[in-house]
Amino acid sequence: MPWYNENLDYDLEEELNRREISSGKFLDLGTGPATQAVLLAKRGFKVIGSDLSESAVNRAGNVYANQKNVDFIVDDILNSKLKEGEFDYIFDRGCFHVLLPTDRQRYIIKIKQILKENGTLFLKCFNNKEPRQEGPYKFSQKEIRDLFSKYFRIDSIKETVYQGTLDPFPKALFVVMTRL
Ligand SMILES: C[S@@+](CC[C@H](N)C(=O)[O-])C[C@H]1O[C@@H](n2cnc3c(N)ncnc32)[C@H](O)[C@@H]1O
Repeated sequence: MPWYNENLDYDLEEELNRREISSGKFLDLGTGPATQAVLLAKRGFKVIGSDLSESAVNRAGNVYANQKNVDFIVDDILNSKLKEGEFDYIFDRGCFHVLLPTDRQRYIIKIKQILKENGTLFLKCFNNKEPRQEGPYKFSQKEIRDLFSKYFRIDSIKETVYQGTLDPFPKALFVVMTRL
């Protein structure tokens, strides 16, 4: 898995430290191998790791059966069963950028619904400055602003990398935004 990172995403960690937050309810959206969900639970958050993939969710549930404060559910964000206003924070590290362009508005509306007012979305996606042709969709800062600004205040967009198993790490954007 090219996105596999056994550590908490560096940019998220930096932002959590800067904000001095370690409690509240977090959704790790598109949790995959669940490393991020588990590390967030270890930092003190109550975490739900959701994924479209039943096998990923079953695996995460088995591997981390003894981990406190984290649960895993099968959920397609585009038809999400998650409750309105359920989360203080959402981390999306690699889900949004694999969605079809025609599904992006639906995703944004779902995220707006399940985040509390003033809740935060931490989004990591590929940057259109990444030269590799293959892989997920890539975004410029302007595209992100155009897509999300109707329902979110964009707090920061950082030019960064997507830490995983590829060498060099792909260029990425790390976006922090507040639900209006
Ligand atoms: C690039 S992987 C990243 C996994 C994980 N976030 C990490 O950082 O290790 C993207 C994940 O998003 C999930 N995904 C794709 N479309 C989804 C959808 N519509 N709803 C929920 N999860 C989805 C995939 O199954 C996959 O596990």
